[in-house]
Amino acid sequence: MTTTAILSALAEEQQGLLDLLQQPHKTSHAGRDFWQGRLHGQPVVLALSRIGKVSATTTSVALIERFKVSRIVFTGVAGGLGDGVHVGDVVIADSFVQHDLDVSPLFPRYEVPLYGQARFICDKVLTAQLLRAARMGIDSLALPAKTLLHHGLIASGDRFVSGAAEARTLSSALRHGGHEALAVEMEGAAVAQVCFDYDIPFAAVRTISDRADDTAHVDFSVFVRDVASLYAQVIVRSLIKLL
Ligand code: ADE
Repeated sequence: MTTTAILSALAEEQQGLLDLLQQPHKTSHAGRDFWQGRLHGQPVVLALSRIGKVSATTTSVALIERFKVSRIVFTGVAGGLGDGVHVGDVVIADSFVQHDLDVSPLFPRYEVPLYGQARFICDKVLTAQLLRAARMGIDSLALPAKTLLHHGLIASGDRFVSGAAEARTLSSALRHGGHEALAVEMEGAAVAQVCFDYDIPFAAVRTISDRADDTAHVDFSVFVRDVASLYAQVIVRSLIKLL
């Protein structure tokens, strides 16, 4: 049986999915709640990564080791970094990099030591399904025509980026290292690395809640409260039908 883990960072992002969960069964493990059940007939486990790479790692390992999930899908929000990546847009990751990992000069900046790579690539098949699901989800919400669906690199780090100057510096340093990031968040690269280690498929969708600039904290809070859960609900619903 193929069980899909749906991981969200925050309770507000998860709520819409919990509302739809059939035959819900809660298990508390590693200080977290794991919700097993069915979404649109498919076996799933819903869990919170919490915030930051270490917290996300704990949840991901528990999902794989204890709950035996066969794939992980992350749904959440992110700050827009790339030109043309606006609040309300949706980004589907093709890969992740840790923007705060720097073991230079021993290793090239951003490279994860002993892996020989900076980027962790998302599963191609699951990501293609997520792209289709996001397209269907966006269309079903009848959002403004300017709402865009992006596909590319997401940068993760243990820092909420809340300054235009900081966002520019981060983005240009990444570009200098050959990494053109569309968005920034705080968990995806950790989950991608865990899934690489365990050889299970991973895909991620992030809705843009803010531009990682001086008003990011306000924009983030409003978006998470009012919008994020709805996006997760419609995109996951479409995805589950495609799996
Ligand atoms: N998630 C959503 N917005 C973010 C930001 N500005 N920085 C880091 N993670 C985020």
